[in-house]
Amino acid sequence: MKTFTNVKDLGDLNTAIQEALEVKKNRFAHKTLGENKTVMLVFFNSSLRTRLSSQKAAMNLGMNSMVLDVAQGAWRLETERGVMMDGDKSEHLLEAIPVIGAYCDIIGVRSFARFESKEDDCNEKILNQFIKYSGRPVFSMESATAHPLQAFADLITIEEFKPCKHPKVVLTWAPHPKALPQAVPNSFADFMNEADVDFVITHPEGYELDPKFVRNAKIEYDQKKAFEGANFIYAKNWAVFRDDAYGKILCKDMNWTVNAQKMSLTDSAFFMHCLPVRRNMIVTDEVIESPQSIVIPEAANREISCQVVLKRMLESLKVD
Ligand code: CP
Repeated sequence: MKTFTNVKDLGDLNTAIQEALEVKKNRFAHKTLGENKTVMLVFFNSSLRTRLSSQKAAMNLGMNSMVLDVAQGAWRLETERGVMMDGDKSEHLLEAIPVIGAYCDIIGVRSFARFESKEDDCNEKILNQFIKYSGRPVFSMESATAHPLQAFADLITIEEFKPCKHPKVVLTWAPHPKALPQAVPNSFADFMNEADVDFVITHPEGYELDPKFVRNAKIEYDQKKAFEGANFIYAKNWAVFRDDAYGKILCKDMNWTVNAQKMSLTDSAFFMHCLPVRRNMIVTDEVIESPQSIVIPEAANREISCQVVLKRMLESLKVD
């Protein structure tokens, strides 16, 4: 595996799930695979889970890990070509990337949507430069449009908790005080569309996601109707995607908060969220603290999804 940016990079999804479950059974089975190899984790944005789970996954494989927080301690990076660098940015990404590549074997990159240019976000301007110029395998730790490590962990979690062969999985928009990227819902849709599930997306009108990720998923604008008979409720906020209001908030309608009354419409559904979560905006205390909430095992599976990706990247380095 040379890149991990979307579901297709995993190849056959059932094989990937089985591999993840094997890794989880014995996460130290490949503890020498990463000997003398180093992963560099480059963060343009904050993180708790991704930072810790990626380092833990690397340790399980016997790798070294280094973390670069671009906003803290590194030179401020210019990302545009052709700019006269007479401002506060001391280094260009075009030098920084190959230098980072010189110190490691695999690179993870976190670079969120900036909501300054829809074109730049959709073209994954930062992540794709790492893929192009680093000379190393690169995995997304959440880019402008996708968070595949999260979605892979979500899929593993659904596999572990599903009460039937073909569960109903509902992705629901929920209110949030800030404009958030579409990366998590995009990747969740990307993975659910390939999984053996009945996938429904519910959101207020105006919050339609990129059709490239939605594909044939069912859209239901009535949240309560969407919840009926669901086995999993996956809550997430996202900002508007369409051109005329890209990155904007159209509503903070608290009627979309996931609460116990709505969960009672489901088939005893499990509650999921990628975390961090704004309590009593996205979901009530009661629901997130209920026995049906699986947000902690879901977060724990981030170690497993990352370990599968690192393992496959290390195996491909051995072949080269
Ligand atoms: N879910 C997730 O990616 O969490 P962090 O932003 O804390 O890494």
